Amino acid sequence: MIETVEAFVRSKFQDDTTGHDWHHIFRVRKLALHIAKQEDVDSLKVELIALLHDVIDDKLILDKDEAHQEVVSLLRNLGMQEKYIEDMIHIIENIGYKGGNGLDLQCMESRIVQDADRLDAIGAVGIARTFMYSGAKSQAMYDPDIPVRDSMSYEQYRKEKSTAINHFHEKLFLLKETLHTKAAKEIAEERHKYMENFVEQFMKEWNEI
Ligand code: ADP
Ligand code: NI
Repeated sequence: MIETVEAFVRSKFQDDTTGHDWHHIFRVRKLALHIAKQEDVDSLKVELIALLHDVIDDKLILDKDEAHQEVVSLLRNLGMQEKYIEDMIHIIENIGYKGGNGLDLQCMESRIVQDADRLDAIGAVGIARTFMYSGAKSQAMYDPDIPVRDSMSYEQYRKEKSTAINHFHEKLFLLKETLHTKAAKEIAEERHKYMENFVEQFMKEWNEI
């Protein structure tokens, strides 16, 4: 079952250049399974959510209904029950940060993947992914004339002009406090500091002389 889902996901993210390629998915799976070992959860469910967590994301796909149907068919063909499929779809549609407008998911398996996804958004890898995303979406790396937003609706988060550097203030620096598990919080410490140092150095060079 995992192999089939993995092949499906790999085919979907093969050519991604927005920082959401299948290596991202595989890193999230690895991190999620690591966190899961320290919690009393269904690790198969964790692995499935991790593999599928970005396949119905509206910022990455053109047709949400089509992606939704494809995932339902995939899971049906694997013999999963309708109730389980419904639960899985609900989770993967709501696992994203969405500019702070995401749902507060209660199931521990989804919270673990959320933590793993957020860990991959911070640190050195997080920095690299943010600049890739910004380039792919024609967004500047920095523009002093574009102010950092304090809070925003989902629409504003996706559509309004921002910059890679602003994204650190608007999302990445906030992630540490949103983590659910002890294991993720521990990993986040070093990554968070590394990002803070990076932005500090970036601003120092930008304003130097
Ligand atoms: P969400 O898209 O809901 O914020 P994701 O976890 O899917 O959550 O986002 C993944 C990564 O994509 C972010 O951590 C960041 O690296 C990049 N990204 C998303 N939106 C932006 C943005 N507006 N500017 C720069 N990078 C972004
Ligand atoms: Ni992701």
